[in-house]
Amino acid sequence: MAVAEKAGELEKIADEVRQCCRCGLGSERTNAVPGEGNPDARIMFVGEAPGADEDAQGRPFVGRAGHLLDKIIAACGLKRSDVFIGNILKCRPPGNRDPRADEIISCLPYLQRQIEIIEPEILVALGAHAARTLLNSTKSIGQLRGQFHEYYTGIGRPAIKLMATYHTAYLLRNYSPENRRRVWEDMKKVLAELGLPIPQ
Ligand code: URA
Repeated sequence: MAVAEKAGELEKIADEVRQCCRCGLGSERTNAVPGEGNPDARIMFVGEAPGADEDAQGRPFVGRAGHLLDKIIAACGLKRSDVFIGNILKCRPPGNRDPRADEIISCLPYLQRQIEIIEPEILVALGAHAARTLLNSTKSIGQLRGQFHEYYTGIGRPAIKLMATYHTAYLLRNYSPENRRRVWEDMKKVLAELGLPIPQ
C-alpha cells in the first residue's frame, strides 16, 4: 500500500475510534487516543492505555511516561515522527486501572488493523499488558522482554518481530541503572535487527 493510502486508512480508523462506544470507557473519556505517527513506520510502539494527559490531549504518550519514551526514541537516533505510537486501549480506564478483558476484546481490532496497515518491521510492546495481549501469553514481562517474539497478522502473511520491554511508566517508578540498561539492551536489539546504527 502506498504511504498516502496508508495515511488515509489510518485516519478512517482514528475517526471510528473517536466515535467508538463499544465499551463503557467510551462514555468516560474526554478524548479517545487513536495513536499517531509515521504511516510507514519501521518501528511501532504499543503501550497499555491512555493516562490523564493523553485523555486530555487525545494523543498517545504525552505525559511523563511519554517524555521518557521520547528520550528513548531520541537515544535510538530517531525522531518521534519516524515511528508510530499506539495503545492496546484507545480510551483511559478510570483512575488508570488495568485494562479489563472485555475492554481489550472490544478495542483490540483497532490496533490489529493499524498494525496490518502500517506493516512495521518491528513491534515494541511496552509493558506486560501490551506484551501479553499481543503475544496471547500469561508470562511476566521479565520473562518476555529481551528477545524477539513473533506477532501474526493472518494466515499466509509473514510474522512481524515483536520485542517486549518495560513500560516507561514502570521504568520511571523503578529508575535503576539495571532497569535502564535492560531497556537500552532491548532497543539495541531492535536497532541491530533493522540494520540501524547504534548510537554510543
Ligand atoms: N501509558 C500508556 O500505556 N499509553 C499512553 O499513551 C500513555 C501512557
